[in-house]
Amino acid sequence: MTEATWAVAPPPEQMPQTIPDLLNLSRILFNEVPRSLRRRVYGIPYVRLDDTTGGRLWVTRHGWQHLPHLDPAKWYLDGQFSRRGKRLSEGSGAVYRVSSTVSVGRPIELVVKFSRMAQDLPLDVSSQFPGGVPRHVVDAAEFNDPFQEFGLLEELRNSRCGPSSLRVRTKRPLAIYSPGKRFELWQLGRTEDRFRQHARQLVEDQETLEHGMKAVEMSIDRQYVYLFHWVRGIDAQSLMQAGALSAPEASALVVNVIEDLAATGFRVLDNKPGHVILRKRPAGRLLRRDGRLVYALVDFELLQRTERYRRWRETAGVAGTTHRQGGW
Ligand SMILES: Nc1ncnc2c1ncn2[C@@H]1O[C@H](COP(=O)(O)OP(=O)(O)OP(=O)(O)O)[C@@H](O)[C@H]1O
Ligand SMILES: [Mg+2]
Repeated sequence: MTEATWAVAPPPEQMPQTIPDLLNLSRILFNEVPRSLRRRVYGIPYVRLDDTTGGRLWVTRHGWQHLPHLDPAKWYLDGQFSRRGKRLSEGSGAVYRVSSTVSVGRPIELVVKFSRMAQDLPLDVSSQFPGGVPRHVVDAAEFNDPFQEFGLLEELRNSRCGPSSLRVRTKRPLAIYSPGKRFELWQLGRTEDRFRQHARQLVEDQETLEHGMKAVEMSIDRQYVYLFHWVRGIDAQSLMQAGALSAPEASALVVNVIEDLAATGFRVLDNKPGHVILRKRPAGRLLRRDGRLVYALVDFELLQRTERYRRWRETAGVAGTTHRQGGW
């Protein structure tokens, strides 16, 4: 689309909704949405909504309370995420921060991130893998697909594997959007074999659904876009550049994060200061609890379970192959 076309696009608050009946739907409790709209993938309940442009939106429990803001008319159509949004320049992928313009409910800052499922890992990503990760894990590293990533992220957020006092804070996964447009394989940079593996895993998961629940599928020729909640604060890389955090403090922080994740049963292969968000107190000092910096994590494209966690799940008798989140 050209700049000229964008210039005449109506402001987002006047863009018509693309999801029919959205406001009425948003008044229904997540647990009470009609059965025909319910889906479950890797243990996570979603509401599946179709828009009038051929797009599909899968909304999580976290996203449901912000539903009016998630309509693609408010952040996607006419390239709003890039026109109005701020590209998050530290990232190697396509990631934007977009403010909502919807006046209904609480205002929200969205993070719009394009999935890199089935693409090659760029060298600048794999070169950030820390030492200590087993060689076979590094060699087999792959970007998560969107449903896998949301499933793992919820598992991490709710993990009971580590000490009960340990909760790893993260950005909240709100929804997955797949626009109606179809692409050639080369345009999305996907490898067929890699995509087939993701699709096969999804089919295996969907075969375990209770009777009557409709299955979710992914298409090799469609894009998938994540919607996350923006985490207030400043990332440790920016704090370091601003002189508010020393390099040794930033390194110690990343080591803490790796240890906390490991205790919880997870690892993120490309952990780095840019992925760790810290909070400043009103007086300007960084927020600490029991002497440790309070942090939230924001990038889970390379989130994985550890072997120890897999064994723990087996012995703890966690049902099925995935964590199961309440809903339906
Ligand atoms: N939900 C969020 N809340 C706050 N900050 C965020 C959030 N998501 C991303 N950011 C900021 O934007 C940066 C880029 O986002 P992200 O790491 O997800 O992109 P990426 O393309 O995967 O980058 P990289 O290749 O560096 O991993 C992050 O380093 C972080 O500073
Ligand atoms: Mg990343």
